[in-house]
Amino acid sequence: MQQQARIGVKDIFDKATSYTKPEEFRRAGLYPYFTEFSSGSDSGEAEVMMGDRRILMFGSNNYLGLTTHGEVKQAAKAAIDQYGTGCSGSRMLNGTMTLHLQLEEKLAQFMQREAVLVFGTGFQTNLGALSSITQKGDVIIADRNIHASLLDGCLASFAKTTRYRHNDMVDLEKVLASLPSDEGRLIVVDGVFSMEGDTANLPEIVRLAWKYGARLYVDEAHGIGVMGANGRGAAEHYGVEPDVDIVMGTFSKSFASIGGFVAARREVIEYIKHHSRAFVYSASLAPANAAAVLKAIEIIEREPERRAQVMAMGDKVRRELARLGFKLLAGHTPIIPVIIGDEALVCRFFLELLNDGIYTNPVLPPAVAQGLIRISCMATHSEEQAERLFESMHRIGKQLEII
Ligand SMILES: Cc1ncc(COP(=O)(O)O)c(C=O)c1O
Repeated sequence: MQQQARIGVKDIFDKATSYTKPEEFRRAGLYPYFTEFSSGSDSGEAEVMMGDRRILMFGSNNYLGLTTHGEVKQAAKAAIDQYGTGCSGSRMLNGTMTLHLQLEEKLAQFMQREAVLVFGTGFQTNLGALSSITQKGDVIIADRNIHASLLDGCLASFAKTTRYRHNDMVDLEKVLASLPSDEGRLIVVDGVFSMEGDTANLPEIVRLAWKYGARLYVDEAHGIGVMGANGRGAAEHYGVEPDVDIVMGTFSKSFASIGGFVAARREVIEYIKHHSRAFVYSASLAPANAAAVLKAIEIIEREPERRAQVMAMGDKVRRELARLGFKLLAGHTPIIPVIIGDEALVCRFFLELLNDGIYTNPVLPPAVAQGLIRISCMATHSEEQAERLFESMHRIGKQLEII
């Protein structure tokens, strides 16, 4: 298309023209994003293909290793045969299949909640649930490090949003104490914070929620399948499930698919179902994705050892990297954030590891305060694979003077 001169008028594309950072990183050979993989990770292998290279995956949210599980794949294929590849409409109109209702019922049973509503993605779930359950005259009180989808839910809501310092309970209480009593209050947190790998101080948050009459919304995207005796997440781990009013989960991590859900009391779900624009005005989850989740839940219930394995691998990696001299953010989840600091150094470390056949996640500000290499463990990682990670990180960490 021809470039048109817009004389005397500010061009909306100016910001794009002057956005040169990715190109600068590419030119310096440091661009770390959009790595191209040519396969998923084999069940039990935790390896993916990059062209003809086998890469050890230490940067996936596939915590239980179920995305390539034979039964999960088979369930998805059977759903395509029965329902087709898409639903071509909103759940409210032509888009509700028997499979969606089965999935909501199964999730309600798994999460021990009265009702569940399934959305197209986890992001959409937070956006749609938060913006519909709060309204003008309400206040959302959110941890400063909540996930972007929660923040967008707050921004899309007509409620006022206030933030408190990350996991700082004194600050949370200060905010709660300052609120007028005629405003409805909803505290919003991640159960497991996705970038930092730490957990919300749910026991104390619950105590404050009761003290100040606030409702509580917990995003369990990284907790479900991993934490708690039955894999229901951080709230189960802390024994506070009955005090969480709305729990959110995503299908893109332990559930080996894509989509998301909220679970709560029946009337709350009924309200969101009829008021959430991200739910009503968006096509329903594809049958293959719904069927994959149903099968994944069955496996999660049948094989609790996967949960124990991913947690044990997380502990081992955390312990060993600390012993090697890496600085880590504190936590006890399978997400292990290694503090690197400088952006270019994060990218170099990431690319050297990739060169060595290991994929990790580079995380740069503003997603986090200081640049990180974020390692995510899976139930299917073997001891030998962990040793390979330690050997590479040790050697490259020394070479780049990180340790
Ligand atoms: C804490 C948290 N909430 C919500 C989401 C969004 O989920 P999805 O990627 O399934 O849309 C993510 C995923 O990145 C997440 O980490």
